[in-house]
Amino acid sequence: MIKILAISDRESSSLESILKKNPSISKSLDYLISCGDLGRDYLTYLSGSLNLELMFVYGNHDARQKESPGGIQPAAFNSRTALPGSNLHKNFIKRGEYSLIGFEGSRWYNGQGTQYEEKEMKSHVNSLLKKIKLKHMFGKISGRPKNPLIVVSHAPIADVHDLKDPCHKGFDCFKTVIEKLQPVLWLHGHIHQPSLLKNQATTYKGTRIINVCEYRFISIDAGGKIKVSYDWNKI
Ligand SMILES: [Fe+2]
Repeated sequence: MIKILAISDRESSSLESILKKNPSISKSLDYLISCGDLGRDYLTYLSGSLNLELMFVYGNHDARQKESPGGIQPAAFNSRTALPGSNLHKNFIKRGEYSLIGFEGSRWYNGQGTQYEEKEMKSHVNSLLKKIKLKHMFGKISGRPKNPLIVVSHAPIADVHDLKDPCHKGFDCFKTVIEKLQPVLWLHGHIHQPSLLKNQATTYKGTRIINVCEYRFISIDAGGKIKVSYDWNKI
């Protein structure tokens, strides 16, 4: 059994309150994963208070954020190495019994921040698939990584939790990742309209896809059963 705290897009006072009231949670968590668009102070606080490595991707707004004494301001932000932890973008990381990969940013919609055209993201996907193959991480028969795989992206997959507008449309090429690598879990952010602040989870070709609005506690048991909830006691 592993337990994950996934966070994305919006800071959550509810999460901070839960963690303060239940200090034992930190001892039971295995992974802290950010799907992007969160400030450095918040991420540093969570990683430090939970004593967990932060594994993250940047969101579309991250490249435009600038820290100041007054907080985060929408201005040029280039400190892309400033976050504490491991950047999963186009990266393959093995932690414990799981492997993790990630893809940052959203679809291109106005050219500002971290945004990619479909063909650019497809190029990221292909280079990562090649990287994994070169590292001999593929199983000899199945063609999949030897360890169960978790994918972390900011943007959603096309047709799964995405919206029709150019900013919130998902990437088609993410479907290739699912077909080739068959991850057990895919965590994404970016879709955080108030009406969606509920558990939004979908199974697509065997992969459990979870929209991480603010935060989610997630567990995966030894049999591969995945639970997701705002409530720590329900996973
Ligand atoms: Fe976003």
